[in-house]
Amino acid sequence: MLKRTLILCVLALTSSVSCAQQQSPPATPPAAVAAPTEVPAAAPAAAAPAGEAMTPVARADAAAQGSLKNPYKDDDAAVVAAGNKLYFNYGCNGCHGGNGGGGMCPPLTNDTWVYGGDDDTLFRLVAYGSQILQSKGYSRKAQENVVGPMPQMGQVVKTDDDLWRILTFVRSNYHGAPECKFGCKG
Ligand code: HEC
Repeated sequence: MLKRTLILCVLALTSSVSCAQQQSPPATPPAAVAAPTEVPAAAPAAAAPAGEAMTPVARADAAAQGSLKNPYKDDDAAVVAAGNKLYFNYGCNGCHGGNGGGGMCPPLTNDTWVYGGDDDTLFRLVAYGSQILQSKGYSRKAQENVVGPMPQMGQVVKTDDDLWRILTFVRSNYHGAPECKFGCKG
């Protein structure tokens, strides 16, 4: 059956997003990640961003390009701890390593930012994945030693708030040049 073979091929292609020609798929493929377990609410009233929670994709679609800003600071230990948990629950570690230091996929902790290091770009990259991001006019500015497509994790991460917490955890692990934390200027 040609049709069935085609479907199988498509499945094989889409499910084998892997970096660095690794033989084995990520230890925790995002699709198989169970619903996140309870995340300790970090000072909910004070820290919650204004407005209703939205999915990351809906939030990115609704916001003007360049306007997304992380409401959390990475010296907020409770938010970093919650983000750390979510990072594992959503399977980011399967590709980027437990502390974001890289694994099969690029590190998130150095000063090489593939599309830019500002909050808005990182949020959109994770929400859309690298292919949709590029289709929206973003282009690769740099490359790490591992190059591959970043999947659309905005289909997996439940809310914009979860994604901001994850990105806060990522920021807390940064150890590149201080002036490049949010992208190098010039
Ligand atoms: C299937 C593997 C995979 C998973 C799972 C994954 N990523 Fe990625 N990620 C990538 C790849 C590959 C890139 C590089 C994209 C490119 O070069 O276009 C990337 C890039 C990034 C970058 C930009 C890094 C830089 O140096 O500019 C961030 C931030 C990021 N991912 C965060 C996350 C977060 C947060 C999660 C979990 C919600 C996640 N990723 C899950 C593969 C993955």
